[in-house]
Amino acid sequence: MCGIFGIASTKSTRNKLYQGLMKLEYRGYDSSGISGTHISSKLSTIKATGPIKNLRTKLTSLTNITTGIAHTRWATHGEAILKNAHPHLSENISIVHNGIIENYIELKSLLKKKGYLFKSDTDSEVISHLIHMNYEKTKNMESSIISTTKKLKGSYAIGCINTNYRNTIFAACKGSPLIIGKGINENFIASDIMPILSDTKNYITLDDDEFAKITPSKISIFNANKAISKKVKTSKINTEQASLSGHKHFMHKEIYEQKSILKEMTSRYVGTNKILSNIFGPGTDKILENIDHIHFVACGTSYHASLVAKDWIEEYTTITCTAEVASEYKYKKINVLPKTLFVSISQSGETADTISSLKKALKLKYSNTLAICNVAESTLTRLSKLVFLMNAGPEISVASTKAFTSQLFTLLLLTIVISRKFGNIESRMVKDIYKINEIIDSLYKLETDIKKISTKFKNKEHTIFLGKGTSYPIALEAALKLKEISYIHASAYHSGELKHGPLALVDKKMPVVCFLPDNHLARLVLSNLAEVEARQGQTFIFTNKKIPKKNKKVEIIKMPGCPDLIAPILYIIPAQLLSYHVALKKKTDVDKPRNLAKSVTVE
Ligand code: G6P
Repeated sequence: MCGIFGIASTKSTRNKLYQGLMKLEYRGYDSSGISGTHISSKLSTIKATGPIKNLRTKLTSLTNITTGIAHTRWATHGEAILKNAHPHLSENISIVHNGIIENYIELKSLLKKKGYLFKSDTDSEVISHLIHMNYEKTKNMESSIISTTKKLKGSYAIGCINTNYRNTIFAACKGSPLIIGKGINENFIASDIMPILSDTKNYITLDDDEFAKITPSKISIFNANKAISKKVKTSKINTEQASLSGHKHFMHKEIYEQKSILKEMTSRYVGTNKILSNIFGPGTDKILENIDHIHFVACGTSYHASLVAKDWIEEYTTITCTAEVASEYKYKKINVLPKTLFVSISQSGETADTISSLKKALKLKYSNTLAICNVAESTLTRLSKLVFLMNAGPEISVASTKAFTSQLFTLLLLTIVISRKFGNIESRMVKDIYKINEIIDSLYKLETDIKKISTKFKNKEHTIFLGKGTSYPIALEAALKLKEISYIHASAYHSGELKHGPLALVDKKMPVVCFLPDNHLARLVLSNLAEVEARQGQTFIFTNKKIPKKNKKVEIIKMPGCPDLIAPILYIIPAQLLSYHVALKKKTDVDKPRNLAKSVTVE
């Protein structure tokens, strides 16, 4: 899994390759590399481990390269060490790969028998040697790409250069995204639109089983050996670069951006007493009126948003919902009853598990498919019949924050739209939505207290998070945030489940964080907390309920009162701040936590 970028040009491309690759760093940052051909047709390659900036000092050795391919890696097969960094070479051929070659072991042994020496432990290296072997037989790259891809099982987006083909990139894909940018006197390949936007907004999407030959002046696309013509699309994405705007980290900036994003979404979609018509696309109010069941599918943080949605929708309608993680959905038997809507949720729209789930759903008997996504022109939005774009702006920090609250907001809008036929509650719910904007400011004022509390987590190895009702997915999401960026183990439980096992973990060292909005469930959660306190656990309670602070082992983070409907959106914000401050104390790389990637494009 990884990010791919390439430029077919007659001019020097060294810096552009580096800058473009930087925009794909969200796809992984275990190692990176660039290969390019010189005017003299010589092949030069640089590689570095860690973030892409580590390539900078090596760039001078690429001074005269014109056409080149670049890669940023998120390790799947083979450790995050230099020998496993892409590009992978086979004499005069260099390749970059995003995806997983499932049959690489058998291909590797076949190639070894033919005398090929492997320098890496990756699955990707078989591609460079296979292309080389086929090219040696035919001296024709087009047929070599066809015979190579025929042999590959799994998923791939490949960029390839062969020094015998001056200023030419060959590209192919199946199951991993690849676009071709159409520039002026130079053309591009990339995993997504971002690296090419400073040069062109015009692009072609390469579909499964297609391959392309790209020179500075020509893009030729083939399906098997048949040349095909494809539509050139124009991106509408704004090229404005994301900057820190005075914040120390993107995560902090994005936590603070939630205020303006939710305000903007309110003014875009919410009227005085009702949600505006057809906000999910033309004719969608009618489509949504006809739904009896919903299947939500997502990963990570987006999955947690779907759990809240399931509770909301089932509370206010008779619609039944399921929420599945995409990596499970794909491999399960799915029973689709009549009038079932499939909803995929994804910040990036590029998560492989979610994409393949949608592909599966499109073959089943759903009445419709809706994608809730933050990135326009992503694979998910291209595949789904209905699309809701959240427009929360680029989320740079790997740990998702503003995408989560935007997803919750969108799902709340969906709940209101589909609950219309179940009673006259829209205007009351809309009133609650407006309260988000009134209350949100007071949450940021808690940061000073949260900063102090974060000290108590710094040296912990384990934590427990609790919630009940819609606060349970918030406990899951808060625990995920802490794990992701501070590397402290965190488990989330329904508060009522504590006594069925996890209570055994509680002793005087165990921090237990609880989300406790003052609602009809609060009484029960308080009993569960009493069980923790009786075992001397250290409790941190986010609540607007007046509860006596019995001893110094109880920390109360005083939340503003709010309608129960919007509590999940508000309660997660101080929890995001807590994990941020714990990570700062632990001096981790907040925006780029180890081992993770913003968008996981392999299954
Ligand atoms: C990765 C990210 C998570 C994210 C998940 C789903 O694992 O690190 O933060 O929640 O993917 O991403 P998506 O873009 O589909 O929402």
